[in-house]
Amino acid sequence: MKFMRSTSLKRLFSIKRRRFDEEMAVMGRCDSSKVSDFQDFFQKPTWKCFSFDEIFEATDGFIAENVVGRGGYAEVYRGKLRTGEAIAVKRLTKACADDERKEKEFLTEIGTMGHVCHPNVSSLLGCCLDNGLYLIFQFSVRGSVASVLHDDKLPPIDWKTRYKIAVGTAKGLHYLHKGCQRRIIHRDIKAPNILLTDDFEPQISDFGLAKWLPSQWTHHSIVPIEGTFGYLAPEYFMHGIVDEKTDVFAFGVFVLEIISGRKPVYETHQCLHSWARPLLNQGDLDKLIDPKLADKFDAVQMRNLAFAASLCIRVSAAWRPTMSEVLEVIFGDCVDEERWKMPEEEEDGRGEFWGFEDLESECDSSIFTELSE
Ligand SMILES: Nc1ncnc2c1ncn2[C@@H]1O[C@H](COP(=O)(O)OP(=O)(O)O)[C@@H](O)[C@H]1O
Ligand SMILES: [Mg+2]
Repeated sequence: MKFMRSTSLKRLFSIKRRRFDEEMAVMGRCDSSKVSDFQDFFQKPTWKCFSFDEIFEATDGFIAENVVGRGGYAEVYRGKLRTGEAIAVKRLTKACADDERKEKEFLTEIGTMGHVCHPNVSSLLGCCLDNGLYLIFQFSVRGSVASVLHDDKLPPIDWKTRYKIAVGTAKGLHYLHKGCQRRIIHRDIKAPNILLTDDFEPQISDFGLAKWLPSQWTHHSIVPIEGTFGYLAPEYFMHGIVDEKTDVFAFGVFVLEIISGRKPVYETHQCLHSWARPLLNQGDLDKLIDPKLADKFDAVQMRNLAFAASLCIRVSAAWRPTMSEVLEVIFGDCVDEERWKMPEEEEDGRGEFWGFEDLESECDSSIFTELSE
């Protein structure tokens, strides 16, 4: 255990200037006003070690009233530092503290997050390794995209905000895949893991399942398969194959969720992507768009986002776009259907995988993270 902790911490100290060539190349093809928030990329991430007393005091002794979220292996508390800064403290639950795999995931999150620095990726303020394992983040007052999108007590989110969330998440994911020193596959892109700042800027969080993949590997096989049903790419679900396209698929589902206002799996156990696919293919966007939006949306932005989502949720990973291409589609002047046309036999992925309806009936959803998280 000591070994794991010291390796993770070593990684944290090995922060080097990251490669942004590809990031900048794709951004160069886009309107600069749309990407101005990428300018401060070269800033080094800063984080510190907190003492247990500091975080104990900040969270009022980890009282239950300060719990803002519970996930698979951690509890998240709201807190306030003496400086007045609002923080979120993620504590590995006691039950998991004795589980070596969970502790490893927790340390992975420190190692990964210590390397990332982007306006659309949640930044780590620090950690505490006394009396348990704790990660400290800036507090997101608005909570996650899931909480603002699916809470009926809140007013519906307008299109401008939904578009900002989709675009910001695409930029953050593009950065993880291409802009970091080492490519990061998140593996659990979903609405509860995208936090919102005060002005609704999305920030990708929860790197517990994230993987650093060696640059020479095209894909990686991971067992056991973890993640959230409804967002899982078929090649990952069927064969445990993980690469950037796993995240691209989940991002497509996330965009569909934003456009339609529907959850990724509904009560009938039907997946959002299975429902949306024929509508997207037939160009039947009216049936897809959240009725709460009425007709208050920008038609070009909607068309581009829906087209990007249709490419991301393709069954065949090879025919899915990279996140650079997703950004090009989102910011494109016109939808280039010809460029993205694929052979008919590939349409439903039968060449490689079963159809989705088969996958759904095969699924034992108990092994996946609960969506209610
Ligand atoms: N920085 C934060 N600010 C506000 N709420 C947060 C923050 N981090 C996490 N949460 C809340 O806690 C929940 C669980 O956090 P997460 O990091 O996803 O943990 P897990 O790995 O257990 O899923 C999130 O869905 C969110 O509601
Ligand atoms: Mg989570």
